[in-house]
Parts: sequence; C-alpha cells; structure tokens
Amino acid sequence: MAKPVTTFVCSACGATHKKWAGRCDACGEWNTIAEEAPLSQGPAGKGLGAAKGARVALSDLRTEEAAPPRHSSQMNELDRVLGGGLVPASATLVGGDPGIGKSTLLLQAAASFARAGLKVIYVSGEEATAQVRMRAQRLGLADSAVLLAAETNLRDILTTLEAEAPDLAIIDSVQTMWLDTVDSAPGSVSQVRAAAHELTTFAKRRGTAVMLVGHVTKEGQIAGPRVVEHMVDTVLYFEGERGHQFRILRSVKNRFGPADEIGVFEMTGAGLSEVANPSALFLSDREKPSPGSVVFAGIEGTRPVLVEVQALVAPSSLSQPRRAVVGWDGGRLSMILAVLEARAGITFQGLDVYLNIAGGMRINEPAADLAVAAALLSAREDAALPHDTVVFGELSLSGALRPVSQAENRLKEAMKLGFSTAIAPAGCKISQNSGVTVQSTEDLPRFVGEVFGAG
Ligand code: TYD
Ligand code: MG
Repeated sequence: MAKPVTTFVCSACGATHKKWAGRCDACGEWNTIAEEAPLSQGPAGKGLGAAKGARVALSDLRTEEAAPPRHSSQMNELDRVLGGGLVPASATLVGGDPGIGKSTLLLQAAASFARAGLKVIYVSGEEATAQVRMRAQRLGLADSAVLLAAETNLRDILTTLEAEAPDLAIIDSVQTMWLDTVDSAPGSVSQVRAAAHELTTFAKRRGTAVMLVGHVTKEGQIAGPRVVEHMVDTVLYFEGERGHQFRILRSVKNRFGPADEIGVFEMTGAGLSEVANPSALFLSDREKPSPGSVVFAGIEGTRPVLVEVQALVAPSSLSQPRRAVVGWDGGRLSMILAVLEARAGITFQGLDVYLNIAGGMRINEPAADLAVAAALLSAREDAALPHDTVVFGELSLSGALRPVSQAENRLKEAMKLGFSTAIAPAGCKISQNSGVTVQSTEDLPRFVGEVFGAG
C-alpha cells in the first residue's frame, strides 16, 4: 500500500505542491506554503467500492424538484446577491479584508432574519459577547432576538447547534475555529478546511443555513477564504476602498442564483445602509465636463450601473513611465494603451498614465474598454467629452469595436439618470426608441476621429 504522502498547500490560493517553496507557483504569493498532514486512507488493503459501502439511491434529470424555498432578509441588496433570499441548508462564505464590515453586515442580517421570525445563532470567535452586544447597540439592534455565543471550539459549537437547531447560524470567522481532531493551529489550511467541511455538512444534514466569515489575508499566516470556496454553495465578497464609504457585496459563486450580482451598501455611523440606486450615488459628485472623465454604462449581474472612469495623463520624469490603476485590471490597461498606439497611432510614450474608477467601484467587464480608451484620449488631448454622454463597448486587438450584451438596459439606465447620448459599438442590438441618441462606431480609428477630431 502506498504510504500517505505529506503535501504542501498554499494558504492563499489552496494549490498543492510536492515540496516546500518560498513562493507559490500558482498565485505568486511569497511565504504562503505550509505543510499539511495527509488525509486518512481508510481501511488498508482493499480499494473502495469492493462491496464495502452502501448503495446510493439514483434518480434522473427528469425528476422534478421544487425550487428551494427562501427566507427574505428584508434587506433588498443582500437578498439580490443571495439570488433572491437565503436558501435553507445552504452554506455561504462571506469573504473580505479585515475591517471592511463583514461582522457589521452579518449582525445586521442576523437581526433582520430574526425579526422575520427565524431562529438565528451568531457565533463570534473574535469578539466577546459584550463586544458584539455593544456593536448591536450602536446599530440600534439591541432588542433583537439573535442568540449570541463567543466560542472557537467547533465541537462545542456543533453540539450547541445540534441541540438548538436554528434556521441560520453565523460563524465569525471560520479562521478562528478549531477542531480537536486536527493537529494544527487555528487558521492553518487544515483547520480552516476541516472547520468549513464540518459546518457545511452540518448545514446539509440539519437544514440549517450556515454563513461563514472569512478574512482575506495577504501575509499567509492564516489561510484565506479561497481554500474553502469549493466547499460552500455561495461565495460572496465584501469589497470597498478604504476611505470610501461605499461597500459592494459581490457574489462570485452561487449555486442558487446568478453569479456576479452586486449589492451596494454605504457605511454610516449607524452601520450599513442599503443603496437602492447605485448609479446616482457613483455619479453624485461629478463635476462639470472635465478632461479625462467619462461615464461608463456597465452591467453588474442583472443590474445596470453607471460609473465614472477617470484618467490622468502627464509628462513623466521616469525612464519607465508610471501606469497606475485603481478599480480596474492593470493588464487590460496596458492592452488598451497598446491598441491605441498600434491601431490609432496615439502613443503614450514618455507619459505617466493614471486610471481610476470613481467611488471605490471595481469593474471587471470588458465592455468598459471603450470608456477607458475615451478617458485616456480625453485626458491626453485635454478635451472633455460632452457632459451628457455615456460610453460602452469592447475593444479587440485589431482595433475593432465588439458589441456588448444588454445594450438596451445600459441605455435605459443612462436615460433614467439624464444622459441623452451614448457612444456604442455598431453591432449592438438597440431599438429605435430607447430615448437616448446612439452614436454607433465601428472601430477605434473612426471613434477617435469622430469624438476627438482627426488629430
Ligand atoms: P467590522 O464589521 O468589524 O469589519 P470586519 O468584521 O470585516 O473586520 O467593521 C469594522 C469597521 O466598520 C470599523 O472600521 C468601523 C466601521 N463601522 C462604522 O463605520 N459604523 C458602524 O456603525 C460600525 C458598526 C462599524
Ligand atoms: Mg469582524
């Protein structure tokens, strides 16, 4: 029989390696690889499946199953990100940087679910119950029926949950939990995995919905939420820029609804408040027409969102000019700069380029390419786009503009917020009476000529 081999696991991305290394090949992080004890191989000698196990009941795809019932949290933004409400017996991971507001969000959600009649248990492994209570007072939730516990021993927690059988259990955070059957420190990859596994199987077995908090960590001292993403049904990330009050809850995986849906919150003195109309908020403090500022009509999940793309282009004193990006992908910026140079003959050599998505928003859509290109050009030429114009479209390496999905929804949102013109790729499906004048453009050189004049 093969001897169980020790593996080495990256605590940031969960990749396994045969031997230890200073840097993880999979994600590029340093000092995140740690030894993990081998899994038990089961009874020795026999392969599995040799009349040892019980037969599993099989059904076919035609079998009809009712849609899962859902509990509404009474918080629209949270419900939408969950795919329409909390599904019983589901396991949800809420990841995010420390201090971003995960505990605040979940405490508010817990109180909200409790108010709707659910039995909710909130287990904090990081704060004492008095601290949680203090926070609840600050949030005006002190009289809600949430049951609190401060505990990190998972055996005791699971015993309590078995006995109490709540509708929802919140574990804050999975990285503080430890199992006495696992021989490593709390926060290690083995402990975090084992804890998440125990809690998700408990959720399935007892029909309790479980929400786990997971800190995103850079240092690799404790395992990040990535190592448990595959175990849970739904993965939500709570994002936001420090210094901005906006927080975005994004579903990156959801077995019960669309992924990539976002919920927008604002951190106030009295906790998180929902933002029902994010476009208005992201554009609220827009100034007069200014060079380098372009409004992008984007889609986040099922919802259109308008955001401002800002660019600054300035002569550089460095031999290798600066390329700085906030809220967008740096590689994609390089690509757009290259396409502008190769296809439209506009070079950014010797120029520093800064790109920022206003309001602390993060955009992943390729449909923002054209808006970014427009912002870069506008900044470089020092010529502002008309104030009432939105831009969207994907740029291909050939310089052609590719149509993007849901053009109609983007236009509708733009009209709602008082924009009258849109610059879009020629191939987009747009009906005549969208209320917004659409300037269709086929490729980048033509776009440059039409919007900024031939030079
Ligand atoms: P917290 O929920 O503790 O973050 P996490 O659990 O993700 O680590 O949020 C902490 C931050 O939120 C802290 O910097 C203070 C701020 N905050 C407010 O601004 N208003 C509030 O009402 C609360 C409760 C917190
Ligand atoms: Mg917390």
